Amino acid sequence: MPLWKGRFAKELDPKTNDFNSSIKTDSRMFREDIGGSVAHAAMLASQRIISPEDGAAITAELGRIREDLENGALDFDWNAEDIHSFVEGELTARIGDAGKRLHTGRSRNDQVAADLRLYLREACEEIKSLLRKLQKALSAKAMEYPMAIMPGYTHLQRAQPITLERHLNAYVSMLARDIERIDDGQKRMNISPLGSGALAGTTYPINREMTAKALGFDGVMFNTLDGVADRDFCVELASALSLVMVHLSRLSEEIILWCSWEFRFCELDDAFSTGSSIMPQKKNPDIPELVRGKSGRVFGDLMGLLTMLKGLPLAYNKDMQEDKEAIFDAFDTVRLCLDTYIPMVETMRFLPENMRKAAAGGFINATDCADFLVGKGIPFRDAYKITGEIVALCIKTNRTLENLPLAEYQALCPAFDKGIFDAISLENCVARRGMRT
Ligand code: ARG
Repeated sequence: MPLWKGRFAKELDPKTNDFNSSIKTDSRMFREDIGGSVAHAAMLASQRIISPEDGAAITAELGRIREDLENGALDFDWNAEDIHSFVEGELTARIGDAGKRLHTGRSRNDQVAADLRLYLREACEEIKSLLRKLQKALSAKAMEYPMAIMPGYTHLQRAQPITLERHLNAYVSMLARDIERIDDGQKRMNISPLGSGALAGTTYPINREMTAKALGFDGVMFNTLDGVADRDFCVELASALSLVMVHLSRLSEEIILWCSWEFRFCELDDAFSTGSSIMPQKKNPDIPELVRGKSGRVFGDLMGLLTMLKGLPLAYNKDMQEDKEAIFDAFDTVRLCLDTYIPMVETMRFLPENMRKAAAGGFINATDCADFLVGKGIPFRDAYKITGEIVALCIKTNRTLENLPLAEYQALCPAFDKGIFDAISLENCVARRGMRT
């Protein structure tokens, strides 16, 4: 039975009811809905808007409804309009008039806004904790291969030698910014819309600070229309989560490349790889590929939210019911990806010999050769040109900087001495650049 019966002579058409209902999406907010109602009822009783007896009856029964939902004694009614209607209907069925008094001084518009903020607050904590775990897994993996040298790339061309630690720590830094961004979004989200009513506040002498405090909000929303119409926090979090997916997707792309026979820099554990139905030799990096693919879903959620909001007049519009499918999907997708990713990183194996071999080819130490000449007083631009000529000579005569005889170096520039071989050793190239991270 809908909450708005009196005005209507007919039941809602069944298909329209399905179309209109959001309970399949918002039933997951039942704890927040009940928590919000408990805080509201306690405030109504304390302000003498309802009697202390009604307040106590509501609070006690809402507690039982929560328990019943948690242990399966009570099922959701999938025909209900939404979780708010369902909980209020169930409460009224159980305790009668007291239940009917719960909705005094509020609207589903401020109720749903509060529930969503509370639900996403917990979801943010969960994602941040997973991000911290992934940071730990990446740092720990780097520590397993101290001073492992690999090629650093620009344009996917070998550029300068680096350590695996420095490479993996780049992702640790990206994830640190992701955590900061979520924290920042939470600051603006953790403000209570309760008391906004449908849009214009309420005529009852409610105490907005009291419900805000009881629910752990940091304050109350200043404007009542904004209180019910604001979904900026969904956009901000979907944007922060999109960047998480960008970072996971970039790491995935590298892992996929590194797992190829062309690179052979790492190997995923068998428990996190899959085979081919036809090619017996295949070991496929499905997990990073799926993560790379799923990034599109989260970007889509962000675009969906922005598009849903952009033309809405103030204050609440039913379009906004679409917010939950999008933001829940963004959180679910990131959670799922991180949950699978963390153990995959923990169990992956790097092949430092192959990484070193790749770093030893491709004239990755040419910058250091130029720097050596700078140390002998030659201006960098000249040193760069001389080194370029040396590289060209090596390519033409099928040699490397390491095995080109000193005499040939000196023929191109007399400033070279035998110190050059020390200067271009990969270990020295890496060590000279100081900080490892
Ligand atoms: N299910 C609705 C939503 O998620 C709750 C708010 C309904 N308010 C209304 N005036 N119909 O947005």
